[in-house]
Amino acid sequence: MSGFRTTGLVKRFARGVETVTALDGVDLAVAPGEFVALVGPSGSGKSTLLAVLCGWETPDEGALTLDGDLAGRRPDALGWAELALVPQALGLVADLSLADNVLLPARLRGVDEHDRAGELLAGFGLAHLADRYPHQASLGEQQRVAVARALLLRPAVLLADEPTAHQDRGHADRLLDAVRQRADDGAAVLLATHDELAWARADRVLSMRDGRLTEGAPS
Ligand SMILES: Nc1ncnc2c1ncn2[C@@H]1O[C@H](COP(=O)(O)OP(=O)(O)OP(=O)(O)O)[C@@H](O)[C@H]1O
Ligand SMILES: [Mg+2]
Repeated sequence: MSGFRTTGLVKRFARGVETVTALDGVDLAVAPGEFVALVGPSGSGKSTLLAVLCGWETPDEGALTLDGDLAGRRPDALGWAELALVPQALGLVADLSLADNVLLPARLRGVDEHDRAGELLAGFGLAHLADRYPHQASLGEQQRVAVARALLLRPAVLLADEPTAHQDRGHADRLLDAVRQRADDGAAVLLATHDELAWARADRVLSMRDGRLTEGAPS
């Protein structure tokens, strides 16, 4: 079990001669077993926050601390059993089948998770597509593969960037049930989303605007 907290995270990007402050002092704590939904308009900094949390981006100021079983660890040194991400752009591997994309974290870890992968594929309505390649699947199907890949190793920390953006209501329900279950099993979950179905399942909703976080859904 592990949660995480940030204090005073600032992330700036150069844009020509200007500087964009994508994160402007973000204090956030997500406890083990907690599902937090992160809401905010396009460009407000949601993906940037997830990129810093998973170690893809280095903050200009502030700190990220993991606790519990992951205390003292750096996010960029974690495997997908510890911290897993559903990127907004999905990041599937084009020359692996959908099943092999789901299994990738297990292959990298040297463990056999074929049964678990099969269950996730079936649960997300993908069993009949297992041998197809990403370009042979719809965007919604590809997104469900990315969620299955993130859930495969039951990560202690789950970060997901608008994981229901390409789903109909029925498939969104299935994905969100699986995410809720992961939190109920002890994971710390942060999910960027515009989907009110997700807010309903979350323990807390946080709003982001211009790189700043406030408690509660946007008014
Ligand atoms: N690598 C980058 N270089 C320059 N600017 C960036 C970079 N990544 C993000 N930004 C800028 O930082 C701000 C926050 O972007 P971010 O992608 O975090 O927003 P978002 O809330 O995820 O938006 P969306 O809902 O559209 O996904 C935006 O102004 C964006 O243009
Ligand atoms: Mg985004």
